Amino acid sequence: MFASFKSIGSYIPSKTLTNKDLEAIVDTTDEWILQRTGIANRHIAHEDESTSDLAYKAAKQAIQRSGLEVDEIDAIICATITPDYFCMPSTACVVADKLGIKYATSFDISAACSGFVYALNIAKAFIESGLKKNVLIIGAEKLSSIVDYNDRTTCVLFGDGAGAAVIGATEDKSKSVLDIHTSSDGAYQDFLITPGGGSKTPCSTQMISENLQYLKMKGNETFKLAVNTLTKDVQSILKKNNLTSENVDYFIPHQANYRIIDAVGRKLKFPKEKIVLTVAKYGNTSAASIPMAINDWYEKGDLKSGDLMLLDTFGGGLTWGSALVYFNQDN
Ligand code: ACO
Repeated sequence: MFASFKSIGSYIPSKTLTNKDLEAIVDTTDEWILQRTGIANRHIAHEDESTSDLAYKAAKQAIQRSGLEVDEIDAIICATITPDYFCMPSTACVVADKLGIKYATSFDISAACSGFVYALNIAKAFIESGLKKNVLIIGAEKLSSIVDYNDRTTCVLFGDGAGAAVIGATEDKSKSVLDIHTSSDGAYQDFLITPGGGSKTPCSTQMISENLQYLKMKGNETFKLAVNTLTKDVQSILKKNNLTSENVDYFIPHQANYRIIDAVGRKLKFPKEKIVLTVAKYGNTSAASIPMAINDWYEKGDLKSGDLMLLDTFGGGLTWGSALVYFNQDN
């Protein structure tokens, strides 16, 4: 038995934040942002919308498209670095309640931008071990809640959104989640970090006055590591499966920066029409970025059942990973 990618869904908040809007907030320009990142726009959740609200809407769509009833979902994994609540309950439990799912195994994982690929790996293991039948995986982020809109080096990069998928089972390898590789190196933990609010530096007025609750990034150092690590990771998963970039229908990388995607795409010799790009309109939505991109290509009518997707991601931890996945949505 193999795990199978049965459906995709996403939710994008209606409010937008353009480069021009940001010019009025911090010392930046539309030209700098476009040139350095490829980002033109991002979507921002409303004040009364939390991560679970975004996740719920994406999940509902994915479940509908899977053809399953909600009570057939027996596990929910929500990848997020912006959970509704700091410690508990998990966002997955809140989403389960909103969906009306009772008694499923529900938990969050924290792997930053790699969260969706990590969640897919866990779902694959759950299904192929026989432990679970249908796993709902979600990547959802309200990054606007941890972005410092006084820091021009980070606030221009991030947006909000959610994507979700239902992972079921198949006997047919050509419809399977073929292979996944996930990895990490905690030696680079300070490259992307929210320093305050955890057990190391608990919430305090001093912590808040030093803005330690916000996301900090060593952008340039992260950039260099990302290009090399992502390229090697993709080369290795393709080789292990006796495949080349020619066998892949769509290369769907984490959407952090157009220059990273372009550099990796060139090194791997992917033609432009095979590279899925959404970074211009959504910015970096961390764990939500890959499922939102899959959903865009599905709704555009380009991604069809049977297509082989190559997912590739890199983020805080540092964490990274890649996956070879046949898209298998019939509805
Ligand atoms: N507007 C104008 N100037 C800016 C801005 C801005 N918004 N931000 C930085 N600058 C300035 C800097 O101050 C610096 O000025 P200086 O030369 O006078 O010191 C100059 O621009 C160059 O800064 P760099 O940081 O070297 O710019 P770089 O080309 O590296 O681009 C960026 C920065 C976009 C952040 C890039 O490094 C990047 O994309 N990094 C990787 C991000 C990533 O992949 N993260 C992992 C996933 S995220 C997650 O897991 C949550």
